[in-house]
Amino acid sequence: MTLNNTPAWQALTTHAASLRQCHLRELFAEDAQRFARFSRQHDGLLLDFSKQRIDADTHRLLLDLAAAADIDGWRQKMLDGEAINHTEGRAVRHVALRAGDNAPPEARAVLERLQVCCENIHNGTWRGYTGERITDIVNIGIGGSDLGPRMAVRALAAQQKPDLRVHFVANVDSADIAPLLARLNPRTTLFIIASKTFTTQETLINAATARAWLLAAAEDEAAVSRHFIAISTARERTRAFGIADDNVFEFWDWVGGRFSLWSAIGLSLALAVGWRQFEQLLAGARAMDEHFANAPASDNLPLTLALLSLWNTHFLGARSAAVLPYSQSLERLPAYLQQLEMESNGKQIDREGRPLTGIACPVVWGEPGTNGQHSFYQLLHQGGQLIPCDFIALRDSDFPLSGHHADHHRSLLANCLAQSAALAFGQTAEEVRAAGVAESLLPYRVFPGNQPSTTLLLPALNAYTLGQLLALYEHKTFCLGVLWNINSFDQWGVELGKTLARRIEPLIAGEGDDSAFDVSTRGLLAALNRR
Ligand code: F6P
Repeated sequence: MTLNNTPAWQALTTHAASLRQCHLRELFAEDAQRFARFSRQHDGLLLDFSKQRIDADTHRLLLDLAAAADIDGWRQKMLDGEAINHTEGRAVRHVALRAGDNAPPEARAVLERLQVCCENIHNGTWRGYTGERITDIVNIGIGGSDLGPRMAVRALAAQQKPDLRVHFVANVDSADIAPLLARLNPRTTLFIIASKTFTTQETLINAATARAWLLAAAEDEAAVSRHFIAISTARERTRAFGIADDNVFEFWDWVGGRFSLWSAIGLSLALAVGWRQFEQLLAGARAMDEHFANAPASDNLPLTLALLSLWNTHFLGARSAAVLPYSQSLERLPAYLQQLEMESNGKQIDREGRPLTGIACPVVWGEPGTNGQHSFYQLLHQGGQLIPCDFIALRDSDFPLSGHHADHHRSLLANCLAQSAALAFGQTAEEVRAAGVAESLLPYRVFPGNQPSTTLLLPALNAYTLGQLLALYEHKTFCLGVLWNINSFDQWGVELGKTLARRIEPLIAGEGDDSAFDVSTRGLLAALNRR
């Protein structure tokens, strides 16, 4: 089914032509109720989308589109475990992982084993090969087997357990693992090899290096069982790597890599912050799942984010979207959302194999505020490109400083609100003139404004609200996939590069025939081999 043939799509196309000319200043001037109309509160979260370039008609038409796309029907198919990832013949059931008592028995069984493992490491029952306690955890994984736990461990730094440090290695570049190993003690380090497929080259190379490093110190293969855990769907491969079954925590092909934080992939997070906190993360996500499943479309937070993204990208012509957390602890969120959104929806072919008529996913990028204000915000304000922004702010700081300290958090929040207002409303020539700026500088000092943004206000940053936040973006991603009629759950686009890398690797070592490659690749190979 193609949405662009529907009356709702046609109506939005006509409507967009007139709204494109309209400035947010006018939209705010016209409607004193705009904040009330275009903001929603749910379970402690506040979503303010009044600074989006929409009016009541836009909102109504977007909701018509959602109905035409049958979001409800697709959500039900996902929840019922239908193989909606049709190119791989797989169900999409990450929501089931956090369903508490309603989670599938196999998922609950793994959670129970994880809890025991986690507690054993925390209380010192788990010991290294010399009998010492574990002090350092190294998660080796990449993509979905890295970005989620890495982002979440960083986000929940305020809850970090003392006495246990959690590190992440992803890149096959030895500059990632080598300096880390140089400062760790093999007797007290535990590696988690996180790989859904257990075939990912980067992860296997890093894992082999870690194993060799351990064995160089331990000089006994038996040490591997005290220092290596695997998280994977591929038990034969974890066995072949030499990891005992007792140390393997499985998940299933119905959990996509970028949706796997809720599975055993979350172990490094649970170790960093404790099992109770991990359960809180699941509870927050579960609450968002329930909201997504039950809230009416016009109050539905994930659907709202998806519709706004579609509106900005397709109808207003945005090509990128910025995520701007006003929280240093959320500094890895943009990287996490890049995989979630761009690997899911960075596609051009619909479910029937036909090319799309538009771009399903903007380029997602971002940095925490206030840092970004002093680098790329110039372009947001005066660069002439439409770049919708998601501002994410915390009402209370996760690291409050009181007493004689300056008020960091007040300043942080003031900057967040100031930026979304400045982007929306800009500064006219009259205002600049009235401020006494010389006529010759006027053109440089005008801010066009009309840059749309959404502000998401969280009461605080903790495991529960992080769970809500991540599930919110997961379901946004799902809804966008439905709106574009694409499969958000495969990632064939990453395969070609992997295949070529395998063919090129021997050529880097000077072995084999490079004649099948283009002149650029051959030129680069020659330069590399000329040392
Ligand atoms: O190459 C892309 C990808 O398959 C991602 O989808 C995935 O999250 C990542 O690689 C890591 O895969 P694995 O967990 O199987 O090592």
